[in-house]
Amino acid sequence: MSDYVSGLFGLDGKIAMVVGASSGIGAEFARALARAGADVVLGARRADRIEALANEIAEETGKRTLAVALDVTDADSVEAAFDKAEAEMGTVNIVCNNAGLARPNFALADTEEDWDITMDTNLKGMWRVARAAASRMIEAKSGGSIINTASILGLGVAPTQTTYCVSKAGVVQMTKALALEWQRFGVRVNAICPGYFKTEINDKYLDTEQGQKMVALTPAKRVGNLEELVPAMLMLACDASGFTTGVALPVDGAHTVRIL
Ligand SMILES: NC(=O)c1ccc[n+]([C@@H]2O[C@H](COP(=O)([O-])OP(=O)(O)OC[C@H]3O[C@@H](n4cnc5c(N)ncnc54)[C@H](OP(=O)(O)O)[C@@H]3O)[C@@H](O)[C@H]2O)c1
Repeated sequence: MSDYVSGLFGLDGKIAMVVGASSGIGAEFARALARAGADVVLGARRADRIEALANEIAEETGKRTLAVALDVTDADSVEAAFDKAEAEMGTVNIVCNNAGLARPNFALADTEEDWDITMDTNLKGMWRVARAAASRMIEAKSGGSIINTASILGLGVAPTQTTYCVSKAGVVQMTKALALEWQRFGVRVNAICPGYFKTEINDKYLDTEQGQKMVALTPAKRVGNLEELVPAMLMLACDASGFTTGVALPVDGAHTVRIL
């Protein structure tokens, strides 16, 4: 890598936390952050998964890693995870706020519980994590970058995804509102809006005939590869992007711009 590129995008000396790091996008982001030079804290409920991945990343990159079990629906658990990260690694200054779930269903079949768990995880969970992160960045006067994983379904809608779409639209608006409020502290808040990437959240659907037909109708006629999300995340994470905040960036092979 040229010195110029590593000077812009390198994350040496940074302490990153990925929430929702036990699979899919978050696992890919955790690997990428360490490869770019950051020490990495991995958070999720499945402790066995994040511990194994933390060890694998440390072995590959030589960076410090820490696995911290947390549940974004539990405010105490989120606070405790940031406390542990800070005590063992220092103030976290990059956060991939990525935990999420989807319960696709026709709106009339959705239950109160479907609505509540989706909002509590995807929207309020990201709100809990963003506030826990920013309060520590502000206290330490470190500044930082918070990257929320929203979705193209926070920008447009799709059938059977009412609760998910509403939660992700909330994440997009929250991203903009927090960016505005925390600009003066040097805390940037942006969102990535992925199109379809095959992970545990959607692999069963994408393997169905209906899922394959949907993918064939997208402009790219394929799902994204997880590595294709990484450059957008690193761009938002690095200090060279100091004037980029409040953005919701689609990474979707032009999925969202197509109207016909
Ligand atoms: N894949 C896509 O096409 C796509 C598109 C747009 C947006 N997204 C978003 O990308 C994010 C990552 O999803 P993914 O595609 O990588 O799916 P995934 O493989 O199912 O990953 C979801 C992650 O969220 C974590 N999580 C869920 N509930 C949690 C909770 N209560 N507390 C802590 N962690 C929790 C899971 O960990 P544990 O179960 O171990 O807790 C897991 O690490 C989600 O926000 C999703 O909405 C995905």
